[in-house]
Amino acid sequence: MNQSLTIDQDATAKSAKSNAKNPTSSPYDALFSSVIGQDYYLLKKISPFAAEMSRLVGESVAKFCANRSAPISVVELGGGTGITSLSILSADQQLTLLSIDNEPTMQNQAKQSLQQWVDEGRINFSGQDALSALQSLTNNSVDVIASAYTLHNFEASYRKQVLTEIFRVLKPSGQFINGDRYALDDVNAHTRSTQNEVEGYFKVLTELNRLDVLEHWIIHLFSDESENHIMRAALALQQLSEVGFKQINLSHRLEVNALVIAAK
Ligand SMILES: C[S@@+](CC[C@H](N)C(=O)[O-])C[C@H]1O[C@@H](n2cnc3c(N)ncnc32)[C@H](O)[C@@H]1O
Repeated sequence: MNQSLTIDQDATAKSAKSNAKNPTSSPYDALFSSVIGQDYYLLKKISPFAAEMSRLVGESVAKFCANRSAPISVVELGGGTGITSLSILSADQQLTLLSIDNEPTMQNQAKQSLQQWVDEGRINFSGQDALSALQSLTNNSVDVIASAYTLHNFEASYRKQVLTEIFRVLKPSGQFINGDRYALDDVNAHTRSTQNEVEGYFKVLTELNRLDVLEHWIIHLFSDESENHIMRAALALQQLSEVGFKQINLSHRLEVNALVIAAK
């Protein structure tokens, strides 16, 4: 039987608009608020590469600081519980950090564990979403915008706007440093790598008897891998070039993870 297909243009437009404005418009998108957020420390057991990427982000910030005498301003997108923030703060004694994260379950843990740096006036927190926070910053005002495992969570059109804002906010010669899930361009290889990753989740979390965490990470992975979220490496680098970045470099590829550095 032939069925005619009708598209409600108004509803489609409304949905696109609300997704752009509210990146966490479904309860499943707010996953860092529940078990994953509360037991985020388990990530290093199921994904040792995540800890390595945080370390590499800090190391890259340190290299940036090494050639400069004036205090460096760093903005971190999706600071989470503070793992990468600590690596960034340790990169240089003079740098100051604005850590942005719109999930209080995560950010409150960072506020506690990084209290010493709060007291020293070296870190400030913003609870806004990344795009809104960047939009409130002035042109050419920040030396480094760093991040780990945040941008891959973004819906594609939201991510594109964030990249445009990162470029606008960075000072000339400033750097965008991101350790993240950059999906392999070879789709078969990417699927195999993701399957191995899932196997690891099951192994570790069943041994720990944390099926609740396992369930949430699997649900989360479906979001990461979905067509409107997946951050395919070649396209991601092309988008950086399109917004104006130069010296774009992807390095330290570890399965589906990689470090990307780009200069304004
Ligand atoms: C996988 S965690 C990574 C946390 C931290 N960077 C690390 O390496 O441990 C991603 C973080 O990004 C935050 N996040 C996701 N979408 C965001 C958005 N649109 N704006 C700000 N933060 C966001 C989440 O709340 C979460 O804390």
